[in-house]
Amino acid sequence: MQTLLLLLLLSHLTGVLPSPVDTTNRTDVGGLVQDHHIDLDWLGTLLKGFGPVLVPQPTPSRQSAVSDDADDNQSESRANGDVGDDSQLESRADADVSDDSQSEIRADANVGDDNQSESIADADVGDNSQSESRAGAGVGDPPKEATLIRKPLSVDSDFLEALLANEDEEDITGKDWNYGQLNHDDIENRIEEGATENYAAEIEGLVANANLENSRTDDAIAATESSGGKISESVTATPGQDFTDDKDEGNTDADESASLNSVEDQDTEIDNAIDESPEEDLVLGTGTPAISSWYNSEEFYDDLYPYTGWEDPGEGWGWPVLPTEVPDTTPEQIHISWGNASSQMVVMWSTRSRGIGRVQYGIAPGNYSQEVAAEYSYFWYGNNEGLQHVYRAVLTDLLLNRTYSYKLVCGEEERSGFQFTAKRDDLDWSPELLVYGDMGRVGGAPSLERLTREAETGKYAAVLHVGDFAYDLHTQGGKYGDDFMNRIQEIATKLAYMTCPGNHEIEFDFNPYLTRFSMPQSAWPGSMDKMWYSFNLGRAHFISYSSEVYFTESPEEEQYRWLVQDLTEANSAENRTLHPWIIAFGHRPMYCSNVDGDDCTTPRSKVRAGLEDLFYRQGVDIIIEAHEHSYERLWPVYNYTLMGTDYRDPRAPVHIISGAAGCNEFDGVCINPMMGPKGPWSAFRAWLPGMYGYGRLRVQNSSHVHWEQVLAVNGQVIDSAWIVQHHHHPFGEE
Ligand SMILES: [Fe+2]
Repeated sequence: MQTLLLLLLLSHLTGVLPSPVDTTNRTDVGGLVQDHHIDLDWLGTLLKGFGPVLVPQPTPSRQSAVSDDADDNQSESRANGDVGDDSQLESRADADVSDDSQSEIRADANVGDDNQSESIADADVGDNSQSESRAGAGVGDPPKEATLIRKPLSVDSDFLEALLANEDEEDITGKDWNYGQLNHDDIENRIEEGATENYAAEIEGLVANANLENSRTDDAIAATESSGGKISESVTATPGQDFTDDKDEGNTDADESASLNSVEDQDTEIDNAIDESPEEDLVLGTGTPAISSWYNSEEFYDDLYPYTGWEDPGEGWGWPVLPTEVPDTTPEQIHISWGNASSQMVVMWSTRSRGIGRVQYGIAPGNYSQEVAAEYSYFWYGNNEGLQHVYRAVLTDLLLNRTYSYKLVCGEEERSGFQFTAKRDDLDWSPELLVYGDMGRVGGAPSLERLTREAETGKYAAVLHVGDFAYDLHTQGGKYGDDFMNRIQEIATKLAYMTCPGNHEIEFDFNPYLTRFSMPQSAWPGSMDKMWYSFNLGRAHFISYSSEVYFTESPEEEQYRWLVQDLTEANSAENRTLHPWIIAFGHRPMYCSNVDGDDCTTPRSKVRAGLEDLFYRQGVDIIIEAHEHSYERLWPVYNYTLMGTDYRDPRAPVHIISGAAGCNEFDGVCINPMMGPKGPWSAFRAWLPGMYGYGRLRVQNSSHVHWEQVLAVNGQVIDSAWIVQHHHHPFGEE
């Protein structure tokens, strides 16, 4: 991988490739300037992570990048100003117009170069087939030096013990049983593999010992045979022994009958003993309670069965005693989301033990004058090892746009020090949201750190997590879910954490997702029959839909009916005037440039077949997706047809895929490659390893929306764009 990156970097720097590693890429989209930068210092840092490499020194192009950084700041200042004035925007139209390839940060300039493809395949790029290629890369390689060193002069004690072990007791009457343990071929192999002469000598000694043991066994068997074959006499009678298996052909019928009678008698005696014995004699000869002894034995103490004793009511039966659990109702995994009304906020948390939960809250720090009781749900399905007591409190009648303090009280425990700002319901503001999918419990750490700082700024209205949360919420019996929810707590206690399901939420009928989160217009805990909702924010109408209806039992017809109804209402003259932007978000993309064989890589995409026509006819302006662990922004597109190469009054939805928050599918690099040819609709894409990040979406006003993608590792904005629409209406009716 480092070779690939080096080649690409050097190629770009020396001008072999048509455009440099996008130190300054500026795209003019209908007079709206987008700036893309890759900081060479950052790239050097990234490359260092893959081994010793040459880090490029500052060059004139670097200076250019610096100057454009400043330019970017100007752009930001401008963005926060009155950007609804098109003339101001158009004054920025003096930048170079760059083609698609320039507006792309990628390592695929030599697409089709087998060597490069091979190098990529060597990396951990998330594609199964490629992972397999990597796994097999070592086959046929010359052995490393270390493997040529002969093994040290030591005896493999485990192996030697195994040689002498007699685990094959069923063959006790077989003469060769011990030879079965002494596989001379194995011994020879061991010697060939690196055993020394000493090793071999010890092996020979052990063989001699084993032969001696066999000899003794032979002698014992011979002695037994000479004594009339009464082997059973030397065997201690134990319950369940098959006394009828008498192989002594020399016995008379009378003896045999007597023997059988004797066996029957013994069985009867055993049965009577079990029936009449006091409880302490349940196991013959032990004098101690049978099950109790077993459960209380030292070897029974383990993590899987942590029983501490045996509860026995004195009637010969009972049950294991579980460890005495100290009740712990300390709330954790605390997060908030918007409710059905703007004046509501939903607060959720989990505890180890069950308690009575409530939320106390009020305006101004330390004011907890209001209180609301929490609902409770026992959460086991898909969570048998996680915290199983989940609470949900709906705070109502909040004053819009006011900041509230809140604390959670559960049983004897409480958690305080949290604040949120109630949802704004007015139109004259520019809500900004943090947007990402596919974060992962561990893989999303870089994104999580920066997002935590973002949440503290107070400038964001909410988070849109576009599916795929912990990889997976149910993994390790839900412990992954617990861990993930605690990791996002710093964000999700401040900002409404709005979600949609991804493919990593499918297991257990989506129950871990539907229990851990509560979304508007749905019961809690939810069901897979209703995993979609909408809300208004500023000048936008947001729709959360489920792409998973096309891959699971979740009813796609139900969602489709709901979408038709919701979009029809959103398109009423009044609503489309108040909230002209319609922004939908769902997990799996309809289009993508990735080459991993997912649904979006084929024109037969199920999600596209299911929703594209509807979204086009209802004039959905922007569709935010994830699932692919990369970033891609598309030109307006419909039915695989490019509908323009700018964002001035687009004539079809604009798709943005922001699924690069981190994922968690592999240790280390997690990315889905885009090595193949891209569609004409691909405006910008970024997928290099380490390019984890998230998006910022701002609904500036009725006609302007701003989008930018941020690199988690350094906070750099790698892509930004204005989308301008003056005539929001169903597409195809021009
Ligand atoms: Fe996914």
